[in-house]
Amino acid sequence: MPAPRSLTADVLDPATSELGEGPRWDAAAGVLVRVDILGGLVLLADAEGARLATHPIGRHVGAALPAEGGGWLLAAREGFAVLAPDGAVRPLLAVLADRPDLRYNDAACDPAGRAFAGTMAYDRTPGAAVLHRLDPGPRATAVLDRLTISNGLGWSPDGLTMYAVDSDPGVVRAFDYAPDQGTPSRGRTLLEDLPGGVPDGLCVDGDGCLWVAVNGGGAVHRYTPAGALDAVVGLPVPQVTSCCFGGPAGDRLFVTTAREGLDPGEAARQPLAGALFAVDPGVSGPPATPWRPLP
Ligand code: BGC
Ligand code: CA
Repeated sequence: MPAPRSLTADVLDPATSELGEGPRWDAAAGVLVRVDILGGLVLLADAEGARLATHPIGRHVGAALPAEGGGWLLAAREGFAVLAPDGAVRPLLAVLADRPDLRYNDAACDPAGRAFAGTMAYDRTPGAAVLHRLDPGPRATAVLDRLTISNGLGWSPDGLTMYAVDSDPGVVRAFDYAPDQGTPSRGRTLLEDLPGGVPDGLCVDGDGCLWVAVNGGGAVHRYTPAGALDAVVGLPVPQVTSCCFGGPAGDRLFVTTAREGLDPGEAARQPLAGALFAVDPGVSGPPATPWRPLP
C-alpha cells in the first residue's frame, strides 16, 4: 500500500474560538458558517476566512446548518431553533429542556434535507448520548442510542451509506441508509484506534472518501470507503474538531480547531488553538445539504 499523501493546512482566520466546530459551506448564501459551541456563537465568513457576521445565541450551540430559503437550523444546548439572517433566534423544539446535564453536539442533513443532531453529557457519561432525527410535528426521533459523544455525520455520494462518529469509544461507524425512511441500520465499525486522538467531525468528498478530524492528533485524515488511510493533513494544534469542503468551486477544505480545557501554560504555547484553517487538497466535495423546513 502506498504511503499516505501529506498535506499542510494554513491559517485562514487566526482569531480563536474556545470550541470552534461544525464548519458548513452554505452554497446559497456563499458563506462559511461555523460555531463556537462553548462561546455560544455562530460565525459567518467568506471563502478567504474574512469575518462577515457573528451571531451570539445566548447558550451553547452544537451546530448551525444552512436552511432552505435562508437562515440556519441550530442544534442549540437544549434543542432545535432557527437563526434568521438578521440574527433573530426562534425556538423550534426544546428536546433537552429538562436535561441540563446534556447538550446537542454535531448535526448534519441527509441528502433529502432531514436534520440529524446528536447529544453528549457534559460529564461524558458513557452511553448517555443519542442521535436524533428532526421529524414533522416537530418531534425528535432517536435513531441511534447508547452513544457517548455523538459527533461527525456524513453520507456516501449515492446516499446509501451513512457515517456516524462516537468520539468516546473513538469509532467511525458505517450504516446502510434507507433514503426514503431516513433510517440507518446494520451498523459496523469502519475506523477505530486513530493515531494520537479520537475521530470528531467529518465530511465526505466527491470520490466518496471520508475526511475525519482527529481531535488530539493535530490532523485531518482522508480514508477510502474501505477504511484505508489515503492522506494526512497536518495542523499546528492538537484539538482538530471538524472539516468541510466549500468555496465557490468546492475545492477548499476548511478545518476548525479548539482550545477547550487548555491550562494557562498550554494556552500560551498554542496561540492558534481555536483558529480556522484551510487547505486546497486537489479534490472537491459537495456543499452542505440545506435543511428542508418541516411541513
Ligand atoms: C465536543 C467536545 C469534545 C470533542 C471530543 C466535540 O464534538 O463538542 O466537547 O471534546 O468532541 O472529540
Ligand atoms: Ca464535533
